[in-house]
Amino acid sequence: MADRSESFAYRLWRYDGAPGELIPLLQSAQDHFGYIPRRAIKYISEVTSVPESTIYGVITFYSQFRLQPMGRYVIRVCAGTACHVSGAKLLIETVQDELGIEVGDTTADGLFTLFTVACLGCCSLAPVMMINDETHGRLSPPGVRKILRGVRREARSKGASPPAPAGAAGGGGR
Ligand code: FES
Repeated sequence: MADRSESFAYRLWRYDGAPGELIPLLQSAQDHFGYIPRRAIKYISEVTSVPESTIYGVITFYSQFRLQPMGRYVIRVCAGTACHVSGAKLLIETVQDELGIEVGDTTADGLFTLFTVACLGCCSLAPVMMINDETHGRLSPPGVRKILRGVRREARSKGASPPAPAGAAGGGGR
């Protein structure tokens, strides 16, 4: 089986003008880079003759596609029903305020990416957020700030390095 890099190059190479190939090309670019960089859009545009502006339009239409790399820490705040009635909206606003980003964005230092998700499957802990694989429950805005500051402190003490592309297609709805 081809690895991811072969997959993107191979898809570009075998493109024969068949309709419906743009989305698979974008998916394989995202699998390869962890997001869809400008140069991938350029390659795809050259090969398919689809204007770059159209490709950008497709990327921004589908929430599965990302134009920025993932942060080292991917935050998923639950916005499901149980969390919603327990104050999820306030938690999301707190994360946005603390990190200075919107949902779907990555901080300029490459540390954090913020998503909201429909349910994390641990409603009894509502409101809940996950940071990478770690679940934090029964949160309050001050608690969220404390956790985020702790993660940032820890990352700095370890020496911040550029984030590795996460490869995953993202965390659900924005
Ligand atoms: S609704 Fe938030 S974990 Fe289920």
